[in-house]
Amino acid sequence: MQKIFSIAIDGPAGAGKSTVARAAAQALGAMYLDTGAMYRTVGLYFLRKNLLENPDEIARRVDGVSVQVKFEGGAQHMLLENEDVTEAIRTPEASMAASAVGAVPEVRAYLVRLQQETAKGISIVMDGRDIGTKVLPNATLKLYLTATAEVRALRRYAELREKGETPAFHSVLDDIVERDYNDMHRAASPLQRAEDAHLLDTSNMTLKQALDAVVQLAREAIGA
Ligand code: DC
Repeated sequence: MQKIFSIAIDGPAGAGKSTVARAAAQALGAMYLDTGAMYRTVGLYFLRKNLLENPDEIARRVDGVSVQVKFEGGAQHMLLENEDVTEAIRTPEASMAASAVGAVPEVRAYLVRLQQETAKGISIVMDGRDIGTKVLPNATLKLYLTATAEVRALRRYAELREKGETPAFHSVLDDIVERDYNDMHRAASPLQRAEDAHLLDTSNMTLKQALDAVVQLAREAIGA
């Protein structure tokens, strides 16, 4: 039997982390956990309560927010107070809300605990901002995926258009730049490359090329 392994994939918004992580998990027979979806779920809760401007109140209340991850037919579903919010968390407002609540240390402590519990005893690929630095510091393989802000904004723009939305490109780019700034400059676990993470710049790669590179590195690290 193959030994248990964990793969940590970090990087800024739109670098291709979730697409690559999901496909790599499938290729390697591991579970995939999208931790951004968990921050989005908590973000949506406090967005709905109109409390995003109030980090003290977020810190006080977060332990009482019911966040559950469910896997149905291989897909990750997010439940917020038992409501399936898998679709509702994919709006630009929920992205910004996730980035805002992600700056609150109590939110991070709450979600990191959930993430580490989920990873216990299984092979897993996890993506996020602090997986290699905080959540899985002993991961079998750590990767830092990035790309220029323009390339990442183009990818997000194409995703939104595919869903039937008609955003202005400059607003998608502005959101990416603002979220990069928030995620990299917050005091609590800012987005940074772990010292021992492989850097993969996907600006001039197709996602298939990025996936092949990740699976190759993973097979070497796992010894498969
Ligand atoms: O990966 P994503 O774009 O769905 O993440 C949404 C936001 O959640 C991101 O801007 C920052 C926050 N986040 C975080 O702080 N830590 C993580 N491990 C994952 C996401």
